[in-house]
Amino acid sequence: MKVKSKLKNKFIPVNVPKIFKEDKININKALKDNWVSSEGPFVKKFEKQFSEFNSRKFGIAVSSGTAALEISLKALNFKKGSEVIIPTFSIISTALCVIKIGLKPVLVDVDLKNWNMIPSQIIEKITKKTKGIIITHIYGFPVDMDEVLKVAKRKNIKIIEDAAEMIGQKYKNKNCGSFGDISTFSFYANKHITTGEGGMILTNDKNIYSQCRSLRNLCFGTGNERFNHNSIGWNYRFTNIQAAMGLGQLNNIKWIIKRKKEIGTKYHKLLKNNKKIFIQDLKTKYASNIFWVFGIVIKKNLRLSRNLLVKKLNDKGIQTRNFFYPMHKQNVFKKMKIFKNKNTYPNSEFLSKNGLYLPSGIGLKNKEIDYICKTLIKILD
Ligand SMILES: Cc1ncc(COP(=O)(O)O)c(C=O)c1O
Repeated sequence: MKVKSKLKNKFIPVNVPKIFKEDKININKALKDNWVSSEGPFVKKFEKQFSEFNSRKFGIAVSSGTAALEISLKALNFKKGSEVIIPTFSIISTALCVIKIGLKPVLVDVDLKNWNMIPSQIIEKITKKTKGIIITHIYGFPVDMDEVLKVAKRKNIKIIEDAAEMIGQKYKNKNCGSFGDISTFSFYANKHITTGEGGMILTNDKNIYSQCRSLRNLCFGTGNERFNHNSIGWNYRFTNIQAAMGLGQLNNIKWIIKRKKEIGTKYHKLLKNNKKIFIQDLKTKYASNIFWVFGIVIKKNLRLSRNLLVKKLNDKGIQTRNFFYPMHKQNVFKKMKIFKNKNTYPNSEFLSKNGLYLPSGIGLKNKEIDYICKTLIKILD
C-alpha cells in the first residue's frame, strides 16, 4: 500500500465533522432574521423534517442526546423504584437518566461479535418491576431487537430506542429510531449529522409528545399562569441557530451515510484479515454496518496492551478513543452502591479493556485511512 510521506507529520484527529454550504446559508439566515433562541422557525422545521425522515409523527429537539434520554424516561411516568433494563457497555448517559429520576437500572451484557445488548439476556432480566428497556445501538450496528420488541409489547413494557449513534441506519429496512415508544438521537460533533451539541426525541404518541415539550421547557404554565409551574422540568431547549445547521446537515444525509459506509468498508477491507484484532460485522441478515465509528478490539493473549497501542498510534499522529467503560465498574456508581450484586459482565469488561476506535469522522480522507491501517498493522506485527 503506497502512502504519501506528507502524512507522516500530520495529526489525524479521531473526528473531524463536515460543515456543509447549506449549514452556513441557514445559520446566516437565522442571524440575519434575529432568530437566535429556541422560539425561531427553524426549530419546528427541523423537528418536522427529522421526524419525517424517520417516519415518526412528532419530534422534540433538545440540547443533547443525554437530555433526550432524561426527558423521554421522565415522560413515561414510571413509579419510583421501577426497573429499567440497559446495557452495561454504553455511554454513562444511559444509566444516568435512570438513576437521576429514582428508577433502578438493571444491566445486561453485550455480544462479543457485534458489541450490542444480548437480546436473550434482556428477556431473562425482565421481572414484575420492569417498566422500561433502553435499547442502545452501539457504534453503527443495531441491536437485533425483534424478539425484545415482541416480548415488551406483550408485557406492556415501554421501549426507548437510543439511536444516538444510528442516524440513517436501518434495522430490517426500517430506520433505527423508528421503533419503540420513544426514540432518542444526539447531534454532537461526532454524530452522523451535527448541530455542535443537540439531540432529538421522536414518538408517535401525542401525549408523550406534549409531556416531552413541557419537560424540555421548565414545564411552564399557560396564559396568565405562565410563571406558575405544576411540575419540575429542565431547560433543555435547542436554539434556532442549531436547527438552522441541522437542516443543512439533514439535507446531506444521503451523502453522509454513503461516505460513512465507504470509510467503514475501506477500514474493514484493510483490517479484516489481521489475526491480532477483531472488528464489528460488515453485514448480517438484519443490517449492514454504517460505522458510526470504526472500532477494533485486541484479541486475547496479544502481548501489546490497548494502552500501549493507543500511545504508539498517537506517537504516529493517529488519535484514537478507548471504548466505553462499563456501568458496573464506574467509580461514581460504586460510591453510590448502585450495582450491589456480584453479577459479572465478561464481554463488556473485555471490550472495555481491549477496544478502541480509529479516526472515523466524515472529514477523513482515503489516504489517511491507508496511512492509519498501514501504521496499525506495523505496530501490531
Ligand atoms: C448511545 C449514546 N447515547 C447517548 C449519547 C449522549 O449524547 P450527547 O453527547 O449528545 O449527550 C451518546 C453520546 O455519544 C451515545 O453514544
